[in-house]
Amino acid sequence: MLHARRLLTITIAAFAVAAPAAGAAGLPYEDPSLPIPQRVADLMSRMTLADKIGQMTQTERYQVYDDASPITTYRLGAILSGGGSTPTDNTPAAWADMIDRFQAAALATPLHIPLLYGIDSVHGDGNMYGATVFPHNIGLGASRDPGLVRAVEHVTAEETRASGPQWTFAPCICSAQDDRWGRTYESFGEDPALVERMETAIDGFQGGPGQLKDPDRVLATAKHFAGDGDTKYDPNANGYKIDQGVSVTNHQDFYDKALRQYVPAVQDHHVGAVMPSYSSVDWTEDGVGNPIKMHANQELISGWLKGDTGFDGFVISDWEGIHQIPGDWATQVKTGVNAGIDMMMEPNSYQSFISTLTTLVNSGDVPMGRIDDAVSRILTKKFELGLFEHPYTDRTNIDKIGSAAHHALARRAAAESQVLLKNQRAALPFRGNANVYVAGSNADNIGNQAGGWTLTWQGGSTNVIPGTTILDGIRENTSGHVTYSQDASAPISRSAVGVVVVGETPYSEGFGDVGGPQWAYDPGDNGVPRPVKDMQLSAADKAAVDKVCAQTVKCAMVIVSGRPLILDPAQRNAADAIVASWLPGSEGAGVADDLFGLRPFTGKLPVSWPRSLAQEPINKGDANYDPLYPFGFGLTTK
Ligand code: GLC
Repeated sequence: MLHARRLLTITIAAFAVAAPAAGAAGLPYEDPSLPIPQRVADLMSRMTLADKIGQMTQTERYQVYDDASPITTYRLGAILSGGGSTPTDNTPAAWADMIDRFQAAALATPLHIPLLYGIDSVHGDGNMYGATVFPHNIGLGASRDPGLVRAVEHVTAEETRASGPQWTFAPCICSAQDDRWGRTYESFGEDPALVERMETAIDGFQGGPGQLKDPDRVLATAKHFAGDGDTKYDPNANGYKIDQGVSVTNHQDFYDKALRQYVPAVQDHHVGAVMPSYSSVDWTEDGVGNPIKMHANQELISGWLKGDTGFDGFVISDWEGIHQIPGDWATQVKTGVNAGIDMMMEPNSYQSFISTLTTLVNSGDVPMGRIDDAVSRILTKKFELGLFEHPYTDRTNIDKIGSAAHHALARRAAAESQVLLKNQRAALPFRGNANVYVAGSNADNIGNQAGGWTLTWQGGSTNVIPGTTILDGIRENTSGHVTYSQDASAPISRSAVGVVVVGETPYSEGFGDVGGPQWAYDPGDNGVPRPVKDMQLSAADKAAVDKVCAQTVKCAMVIVSGRPLILDPAQRNAADAIVASWLPGSEGAGVADDLFGLRPFTGKLPVSWPRSLAQEPINKGDANYDPLYPFGFGLTTK
């Protein structure tokens, strides 16, 4: 059976020979009535090598923000915003104005090829102030609700596209195997079968056939291909301890844990882009011991993903991902492009990438066929997005950004993601007239409950966004008296029930690795460095649990974190109820809805909950599997 890819190539070749007369819109490629393969073929036939390599090049907003002319000069195909890379005025209109300004520079090129703008809308468009921020993927995985995930990502797509970006670097379809990984929360869970169920995320982002051009859809990116969540913890590594590490495996295990979820993403959900992982794969267990960087992995990118699996979208490198390939710069460029990467995310080296690749093509080190394959893939997605007809931001839905309806969905998602781990003496749900004593580091901190990728790359305890904290929700849901004292220093009424919200401060990527490096300071942290991640409760939170649960009628410990935390018996036994809240996002009130029975607890663990750090990695199916709470566990209050 002819793969879609080969069929497209034959089609392009056929049209290139018999290019029809110019359509009503001018040149054939500008004629929306023509089939996309024909438009691609016509445009390709008019492109110079500089046009083509420009399309394969993405740089960062900060390179062109003050002067967009390099977009025209270098004929750039795409721009991105990395985490926290925002217009000066961080509003939806300013985003759209900025991206339209870049687009005008792209349309000033000889062939007027429109620009793609990519962003990490990984839990809503977290970069943009005012966006609706949803639970991170680990909480969505806990919901076990594919329909919810589709709806969440559709709203995310609507808010993203209305403010300019037409492309999100999401969803991560990693299956996190070791919770010490700083990106565990970006995973829907440890089980690839669960991850596959949540790939309705791609449908939410892209819609169905022909909908990619609609103002409420964006191109999705399945990432990070492959094995990003399957790397080994290396306590002696400099910097990151597990992120961007090595997956030491064999072909069968690697397929079962890291590759299989790409098959439905490509063949059922038709994801438009794929991003390779920074990590490496080491087939030691098959007797081949040399780690291969995924950004250099031609066998898996061109062979398995594009060839065997039939991926017909384009492969975008991660941020300077080819810089980690062994060898000098020319070797890195040659290896990455020849491996099958179609577009390079080069925030700081785009000019050098262009000149180096040009040299490599002219010397024959990179075949022209590889360039043409890459460019035809990129152009195909631009045509499908409708960018040639509507290159500028369609602001139809801009007023829906952060709307009450969107926040209601975020509140529902937060509620459905809660996992009830313990509920002795039927402590939960609380009555609607209960007097409540609230304590803990994460009870009233919207930055902590949102987590990483919120306003800034790492997120932050002082990153305030529109929404509600868990304390806000508690106040809304009871007619009784509410006392809030983060450190539980205020007097505690014996008639009160207690809620102690504990957990982590935000982090992203390797800065969240257990034992990993500390991130630079948050502006609002007065230069106080963030704690190194250890998957433990802080001493202050432990003390708050001990005190509140000793003096209230009954108490619940709520854990706001990007992953399971190690719970000491003292706090585990002191609390009548224990809730895994994950990173609920902008609507902490959704957590309170479960606490007070407005919604039942229905969530199930998306990852195994370890008894101790020594148990990591721990996953269902392991020999001697003995977690504190197993994968799939969750009490209900229906
Ligand atoms: C980061 C991440 C990737 C993200 C990209 C752009 O390093 O690895 O997930 O999409 O850079 O921000």
